[in-house]
Amino acid sequence: MAGFAWHDGRMTCDGIDVAETVARTGTPVYVYSANRLRENFATVRDAFRVQLPAPAPLIAFSVKSNSNLAVLDVLRGCGAGFDLVSGGELHRIRAIGADPTRAVFAGVGKSDDEIADALDAHIGWFDVESIAELETIDAIARAKSTRARVLLRVNPDVDAKTHRHITTGKRENKFGMRVADVEAVLAGLSSLPGIAFDGFHVHIGSQLTDVAPFCETLERLEALIARTRAAGIAVNTLNLGGGMGVTYRPDQPAPTPSQFALAMAPALSRSNVKLVLEPGRVIAADAGVLITRVRYVKRGEQRRFVVVDAAMTDLIRPALYEGFHPIAPVIDPERDGTTSPCDVVGPVCESADFLAQDRPLPPVARGDLLAVQLAGAYGFTMASNYNSRPRAAEILIEPWGSRVVRRRETYDDLVRGEEVPPIELCGTPLTTSSRRLADEP
Ligand code: LLP
Repeated sequence: MAGFAWHDGRMTCDGIDVAETVARTGTPVYVYSANRLRENFATVRDAFRVQLPAPAPLIAFSVKSNSNLAVLDVLRGCGAGFDLVSGGELHRIRAIGADPTRAVFAGVGKSDDEIADALDAHIGWFDVESIAELETIDAIARAKSTRARVLLRVNPDVDAKTHRHITTGKRENKFGMRVADVEAVLAGLSSLPGIAFDGFHVHIGSQLTDVAPFCETLERLEALIARTRAAGIAVNTLNLGGGMGVTYRPDQPAPTPSQFALAMAPALSRSNVKLVLEPGRVIAADAGVLITRVRYVKRGEQRRFVVVDAAMTDLIRPALYEGFHPIAPVIDPERDGTTSPCDVVGPVCESADFLAQDRPLPPVARGDLLAVQLAGAYGFTMASNYNSRPRAAEILIEPWGSRVVRRRETYDDLVRGEEVPPIELCGTPLTTSSRRLADEP
């Protein structure tokens, strides 16, 4: 199995020493295993290929989970398509020479410019989230004398049983259309000549650790597909979105991609559609770690605080979703065999700035490197510059060597694009000398 492991007390990634590698960039730094990405992609692809009759599903990697160009390029090399939610993500896949006809463009708030660019790029499909959006795409496509291939995103009103911030398929969520609206749209398709309806899209949430909500969703879609076909409308494609969870902690195990595929296979085979999947987390999460260095160890009245150089600005999942990421020293993780609970916290001025709370860790000291694991998905992509912190570097490891695939931001990067306006008094620009006077206390 490719990826991260400890050998003789030192963390390695596909045979390469992690501590030595990160000495090139300093910390905090994200480190990715190219081979683990490849392995995870193949696991998802094969799980569904084995369970389903031809044609082979399109695995459209969800760019929002990890958008580093080098990571995307590894997956392009595996035959991945891409799931996009912005013009910026389209720009990224074009930058690596990926084929936009194998990409889907989702998202509730596509701008007119994004729609026009995606049409010009010959995007594979638009996942359409509302009637208003459909009408806009129709108008823009007609103005370009073209047709947009469209999947209608259904909101099936199914509880994905995941964290409330990442559940998307309930009636009260902003995503997708009610089944009744979808059917109304289908009845009026002839009035939308810029739209080429190709099937349905659904995405009920992320980090699902139960196959049942997927099966319930499929049941509802099967009925919708049958009704649509009975009305004489072809349904060629079904995009089931992303959502397959990973095991962040042993007491909350996620099914494997094969288990997800096996549970869904009967309904999918009956539906006789081309399947598209948009996995992100299940491909990227365990292919990445965030390496951080201990700055101080501080003993509070009740707790031990391990203050590290990574923060919520580098990995926001613990603060935002109560996300759990295993943490271990990069070198000598077992140490003296004892552990005691501590909070691993960053330098940001927020009490929500923690990477772990009440976590048993061995004794650690200033200068030690810690590995925050399963951080390859929704890690760097959600990073910010809050507290004017430059964003971390990123390294990609191949078995034959490592490469810095994003340099750490500099202070100049932080202020790029900003300017201090010249002082004006009553609309008159000040001369240098009067300006100096105005600056004096
Ligand atoms: N397709 C659509 C339409 C989505 O909205 C998403 C994720 C995916 C695919 C990929 O889902 P995945 O396979 O990665 O579960 N930042 C959160 C996760 C947000 C997911 C948003 N949509 C986190 O860190 O847990």
